[in-house]
Amino acid sequence: MTEARVFQPTLTICTSANEVAIAAAKTFADAIRQNPKTVLGLATGGTPIATYQELIRMHKEDGLSFQSVTTFNLDEYIGLSADHPKSYRMFMQQELFDHIDIAPQNTYVPDGLADDVVAFSKAYESMIQDSGGIDLQLLGIGSNGHIAFNEPGTSAQSRTRKIGLADETIKNNARFFEHLNDVPTTAITMGVGTILEAKRIVLLATGESKADAIRCAVGGKVDPECPASFLQTHPDVTLIVDKAAAAGL
Ligand code: F6R
Repeated sequence: MTEARVFQPTLTICTSANEVAIAAAKTFADAIRQNPKTVLGLATGGTPIATYQELIRMHKEDGLSFQSVTTFNLDEYIGLSADHPKSYRMFMQQELFDHIDIAPQNTYVPDGLADDVVAFSKAYESMIQDSGGIDLQLLGIGSNGHIAFNEPGTSAQSRTRKIGLADETIKNNARFFEHLNDVPTTAITMGVGTILEAKRIVLLATGESKADAIRCAVGGKVDPECPASFLQTHPDVTLIVDKAAAAGL
């Protein structure tokens, strides 16, 4: 097997989490203005909320239109229906889609209730390809270095599939649920291979809890134990981080 080529990601270090959101939203808005039919890959979790708020503001105040945009979300918890208050579909409706002019049929989030996850995952990959592929992918990063729900040990070639969540991920995500036991233990996630097919990737990280993950993502070698380090094999990755998340670099 030949070693994958390694690139240096572009690193933007901002003074605050708010600045991260403004820089990220500008990148997404510029892409949409340049190509109104752009296909976006989107993430959930705490990190992108401020970016989504800024995009909503740009829609309301600056006329940014999402009318022809298509979106694919990275992941969804298995067992949660689209209308479950803690599902990622619901998160996207509440944090972004309900506040902008995107066509509902152009927003794709994996189906947490799919009867046949293997068939669903294959169909999700086909839908991404049929849309022309993801132009711009937004990512967060887990404190264990995961991207989407590709936990440590994931291969670079992995595709959309069912995955068991790492204990650290379950603990981190418990803040969105009432009890630790309510956090689903499995999810459908785009694979690392799926993510690396996006034309451009923007990863956001804020806060000191992400400093180790950012260091292993860009400051070390490519290693399946830190799935974000596979981003070093993609030629167009931008990291937008605050000072706290950059502290280990
Ligand atoms: C979310 C996702 C995850 C999160 C990561 C960080 O769709 O795929 O990889 O980006 O767990 O989550 P937060 O932003 O809550 O720290």
